[in-house]
Amino acid sequence: MNVTIFSGAAALAAAVADIVAERVRRSPSLVLGLPTGRTPLGLYRQLVRASREGGIDFSRVTTFNLDEFLGVLCHEAGSYRQYMERHFFRHVNLDRRQVHFLDGAADDPQAECDRYETAIEAAGGIDLQILGIGANGHIGFNEPGDRLVARTHVVRLRVETRRANASLFGGDVDRVPRYALSMGMATILHARAIVLMATGAEKAGCVAAMINGPLATRTPASFLQLHPEVRVLLDQAAARTLK
Ligand code: F6R
Repeated sequence: MNVTIFSGAAALAAAVADIVAERVRRSPSLVLGLPTGRTPLGLYRQLVRASREGGIDFSRVTTFNLDEFLGVLCHEAGSYRQYMERHFFRHVNLDRRQVHFLDGAADDPQAECDRYETAIEAAGGIDLQILGIGANGHIGFNEPGDRLVARTHVVRLRVETRRANASLFGGDVDRVPRYALSMGMATILHARAIVLMATGAEKAGCVAAMINGPLATRTPASFLQLHPEVRVLLDQAAARTLK
C-alpha cells in the first residue's frame, strides 16, 4: 500500500481532489466509486469548487455509491442519496443518467443488489474507488465478522456503525436503520484503483490493523493489502500508531 501522511484534513482532501481531477482529465468517461460519511466532506467541497472554476468536467463521468440504508426512501433526509445531493451531485455537471445508487426502498433488496452488480459490469467496472474506513475496520458497509461477502448484498449494521450515523437521523441511534445495502468486498477489490482516506485519532487503530495487521475478516479493510493499486491518505492523528 502506498501511504501518505498529511498535516491536516484540508491538505488531505485537496490531495484526493487532485487525484480525482487528474484522473478525470486523463479519462473524461471515468467510472468513479464514491463514499459518504464525515471524512469525504472536504473532498466534495474541493471537487465542487474545482468544478465551478472549470478545473473538472464531470459531464461524462459515471458514479456508483458504495452503500445505502435499507428501508429509507431516496428523498428522505437521512438517506445517503440525499447526503450526496446536498454535498456533491447538485453542485456539479454530472449527467444524472450516469449517477448510480442502491435503492434502499426496493421491494426485493437482493434483486436490487444484483441489479447494481450488473450495472457496474455494464459500465465497464469501477476505475477509481474512493473509500473511507469505519473505526471498526469496515469498508463500504462490509462489517467485521466471521466471514465477508463478495458481492453487493444486504448487511446487518453493527451498533457502532449505527451510532456513527445517528447525526443523519436527528442524533437518534434508534432511528438509524438496522440493515443496509452495500457493495461487497470483491465489488470493491475489483476497482482498478483505490484511494482510502482516514482522519482523526479514532481511526488510528483500524488504520494500523489495515496496513500492518494480518488479513482478517475482523478487519475487512485489511483485504485491501491484496490490491495492487491502493493509495492510503491519512492525517497525522490517523497515522499515529502505524509501524
Ligand atoms: C460510507 C461508507 C463507510 C464510511 C465509514 C467512515 O458510504 O461506505 O464505509 O466510509 O463508515 O465514515 P466516516 O467518514 O463518517 O468516519
